[in-house]
Parts: sequence; C-alpha cells; structure tokens
Amino acid sequence: KTVSFDYSKAAGFLGADELQNFKTITLNAKDTLLSRSGAGNDFLGWIDLPVNYDKEEFDRIKQTAKKIKEDSDVLLVVGIGGSYLGARAAIEFLSHSFYNCLDKSQRKTPQIIFCGNSISSKYIADIKDLLKDKDFSINIISKSGTTTEPAISFRVFKEMLIEKYGKEANKRIYATTDKARGALKSLANEEGYESFIVPDDIGGRFSVLTAVGLLPIAVAGIDIDELMAGAAATKEEVLSKDFEENPSLLYAALRNIFLRKGKNIEVTANYEPSLHYVAEWVKQLFGESEGKDNRGIFPAAVDLTTDLHSMGQYIQDGARIMFETVLDIEKSSTEILLKEEETDTDGMNYLAGKSVDFVNKSAMNGTILAHTDGNVPNLKINIPDISAFSLGSLFYFYEFACGVSGYILGVNPFNQPGVESYKANMFALLGKPGYESQREELIKRLGQ
Ligand code: PA5
Repeated sequence: KTVSFDYSKAAGFLGADELQNFKTITLNAKDTLLSRSGAGNDFLGWIDLPVNYDKEEFDRIKQTAKKIKEDSDVLLVVGIGGSYLGARAAIEFLSHSFYNCLDKSQRKTPQIIFCGNSISSKYIADIKDLLKDKDFSINIISKSGTTTEPAISFRVFKEMLIEKYGKEANKRIYATTDKARGALKSLANEEGYESFIVPDDIGGRFSVLTAVGLLPIAVAGIDIDELMAGAAATKEEVLSKDFEENPSLLYAALRNIFLRKGKNIEVTANYEPSLHYVAEWVKQLFGESEGKDNRGIFPAAVDLTTDLHSMGQYIQDGARIMFETVLDIEKSSTEILLKEEETDTDGMNYLAGKSVDFVNKSAMNGTILAHTDGNVPNLKINIPDISAFSLGSLFYFYEFACGVSGYILGVNPFNQPGVESYKANMFALLGKPGYESQREELIKRLGQ
C-alpha cells in the first residue's frame, strides 16, 4: 500500500470549481517536468531512479554495509543538507526510538552518528568522547566535495581514524561524491577510499535514494530493496494517475492555491516523534526548491502533540497566514492498552481499555477540526505504516509534488543560488584566498 492524500478537510476553503480550474496549470507543470523542458532539466535523474538505478552499485552498497556492520561499533555519517537529511529521516523513522542507546546485542547494527552538519566544536568534541575505545568507520558524503561543514568534521575524524588504525584507516573511509569532480573525489582516488557516486543529474535534496542515503540506511539494518520498491510503486502511480486521483498532483495544486490566497506558510505536522526528521527533510526539499526569486511557501514543521503546548496557540489563533499538512501513520507499530486503576485519582479511568494510539488519533482528529475552525486549511498525507516501503513511497510522493509545485510557482525547483551568499561571506571572513576584497568590506561593515 502506498501513501494517499486526503484534502476533505480543506474543502471549506475552496470555491466550487477552484481545484478543477487549477487542473490545467497543474497538468502543464507535470508535462514540463516529464518532457524535461523546464528550468533545471539537467537535474531530473530522480524521476526514474526507483527503477533505473545502478544495480551493481546497489549490490556494492549492501556488501559495504555488511562489512561496516561486522567491523564497526559506530558509523560516522558526515554530510549536510541533501547529503544528510534523507538518511537521518529514514533511520530515525524506521529504527527504535533509542537506537543509538540500545545495547549492541539488541541493536545488532552499528550506532549511527551524524556530523558535519554544523560548525560546533562542542559537538565535534562530544563525538570524539563517544568514539574513544570504539571501532568506527566514516561515510563522508558531499556531491560537490568542497562543502566546508563536512570537510571540517572529516579532517578531525580522519585524523582520529589514522591515529587508531594507521594504514588500515583508509579501508574504513567510504566516500560518496561526484563521479569525477571535486576535492573529495581527488582525495578518494589518491587514498583509495571505496567510493559511491552521486549522479550528475540528481541534486542533493533529491538524492536520498542514491548511495547518499542508501549506504547509511543499509548500515542501520533497513531493507533498502523495500525502500526502492515503495518509491517505484508511487512513481508508477503519480506518473500515470488522472489529476483527480493523483496524490502528488492534488497536493501540488492545493499548496499553490493556498499560497495565492495568502497562506504563505505550510506547517507540516506529525503525531509521531520518529517523523521529526522526515519533516526536516520535507522542509529542506521545499525550502531550497521553491524559496527563490522572492517567492515560495515557507516550510515549517511541528511535532504534535508536543507543540500543541507551544506553537499550537499560534496555529489556532495567531496571524492567519498558514495551512497545515498532517502526516498521519495509519497503522501504529505497537498497541499499548491503558488499564483501569482501583482509585481513579487522576480521572483517567474513562480511557481504560483504549489504546494509546486511539488517544493519539483522537488528539489528531480533534486538532484538525479545531485548526480548520480556526481558519487553517488542512491537508493530510496518509502513511500506511512504519515500514521502508511506506517511507520510499512518501519520499517519491514528495519529490514529484515538489517538482510540479515548483513549476506551478514559476521557479527553477532544482537549483539553490541563495545558498552561495553565506558561503562567500564566510570564506571572505575566514581569509580564503581569492576573497580578499570582500573581506575588507565585510570587516568594515561588522565594525571590527
Ligand atoms: O540540496 C542541495 O543541493 C544542498 O542542500 C546540498 O545537498 C548541500 O549544500 C550539501 O552539498 P554537498 O553534497 O555538495 O556537500
């Protein structure tokens, strides 16, 4: 079963023919995407990826994952943005909530530690503490091979690896990068690291189903065949189904309809803590794809019911600038029944015999109605269960919707020119050769 889309609770915010009137614009955007005639059309390798992937490399990923499982207590996954969030989303969603804290005997696979996604010396030092006395390997992931954050972490942990294993260290470094270009590729060639490829035609935030996501995901013991199968099933669906039945097209259309009504923020809401990083992945996918040319929906996310005790007030009652997209897991992975207590001091006996999931679903359904009453249009994405197949399906649902939605919006969904501005300033302030004139100007502006 693949993910499905429910917009029944948004009906009150739509004119009688509004969605139908948006059909042509949506189908045109879909055609632009599939005919590869739009902006950014050299980055569309993700469209066929769930079926058209490098099978030899896929097997090598499985073999490498097996080796890492055998010889490492910890896998350090070094990357940022699209070279980070997909793997983290999958591992957090599909693994035990306390995966890294479990005994090795329970977990059976290495701890997975993500780094290179900030420039924090505390975070790096804390990982160094954690790695003491542990066997570890590194998966350095960078398509460009030149990104500062992962390069810094990689330097530190590569040194630690060499101190520990000497010449054998290189056999514990796995590089996922461009097939020919970049500093990381050169280093991998020189040092003989086992390498995996980020295809030329797949941008970072669309790369979760390449080696970028698949190697760490496989090391965590997740079935990557199932992940691909779920993505392939949804690909089949969203490429062929009519507009009225097509989850990705309806979602793409509705988010643009709401944007045009002044709903500039999409709040992705989950009721399952393990979806937190899936929502982070969604934020990156849409934020980098659509937020450009002074346009786009601002993608936000909340973890519910946690944030009903913080952001819930704003969603219910603050400025009416948002719509909400709920991620609902249809079938819970476990059932915990609430018991009756002899003295009902906490007044909770009325829930005796009910499952925790029933309570959670009631909270979700009640909140959806409350938010709708508070003028927040609601969309719902139904995830059948917590499985690799469902997650693969969800990844593809979102990627296709994002491509179509970006073209409806009129931007190039596949570039990220805005990411460069902070880099140029940072390089200038760091004194990187070639940035001398910017440096002087920035130092003056900072008053230093
Ligand atoms: O989606 C993107 O393209 C970005 O978020 C990149 O993934 C991110 O900037 C990291 O880039 P790289 O993989 O080149 O280190």
